[in-house]
Amino acid sequence: MLVNSPAGRIETNDYLCSKEPGMTDLGEKKIIIAVDGYSSCGKSTVAKEIAKQLGYIFIDSGAMYRAVTLYCLRAGLVVDGRVNLNGLEEKLDLIHIGFDFNEITRHNDICLNGENVEQEIRQLEVAQSVSQVAAIAVVRRFLVAQQQEMGRSKGIVMDGRDIGTVVFPQAELKIFMTADPRIRAQRRYDEMVAKNEEVDFEEILSNITARDRFDENREESPLRRAEDAILLDNSHMTREEQFSWILAKVEEKVKNS
Ligand code: DC
Repeated sequence: MLVNSPAGRIETNDYLCSKEPGMTDLGEKKIIIAVDGYSSCGKSTVAKEIAKQLGYIFIDSGAMYRAVTLYCLRAGLVVDGRVNLNGLEEKLDLIHIGFDFNEITRHNDICLNGENVEQEIRQLEVAQSVSQVAAIAVVRRFLVAQQQEMGRSKGIVMDGRDIGTVVFPQAELKIFMTADPRIRAQRRYDEMVAKNEEVDFEEILSNITARDRFDENREESPLRRAEDAILLDNSHMTREEQFSWILAKVEEKVKNS
């Protein structure tokens, strides 16, 4: 499916809305679910599962900021760790973000100008520059317009930092996720150790707290809990508990909306 909008060309895939056996049936009524929160809270993991269960579109908005960052790195727009603002603004029209359904993971992979970059955007080099790119006003306008277009027909779960406050202030269900920084760092540490990566716990913890501070204090769309967002502190919750908690909120909202 190709969606042409004033926001630019948005490429999605028919599978985005595919219904899978065993999913929760909430009737025809579709809502928008905004999941915001701190780094490394497991937002995408839970949001992805909820979308799958409901047969909704799942969009990881952080992946979109990461894809633009990858473009900047490849185009030589990051010099000595600084983004060339004018250069990026000139090239913004050349950046097409799309999603492609991955038959193996059963989730959408992000594409940059037609190339699947799902793995590449997770690399350290991208992680090191993405906060800077995500703080640029023109980049945010460019991506927010595309995100809003994706939610036009509802039936979407989007996770990020400004989804309930800027992208979908009208979302029927807003969840704001948080967890104790040491617990988030421990989860990240365990994940990396499981991948045989050499890591230092204190370094991970300081990276997480630095990113929190940066996201909360930037001028453009800082990370903030929307007034009508429900807080989910998952410090002592399993994934299954979080999933059931959110699903119960969804059912409640669908019934009452
Ligand atoms: O969720 P993540 O770590 O993949 O996000 C990557 C970066 O993008 C992070 O610095 C926060 C930023 N981001 C944002 O500013 N707004 C969003 N809606 C999503 C992510």
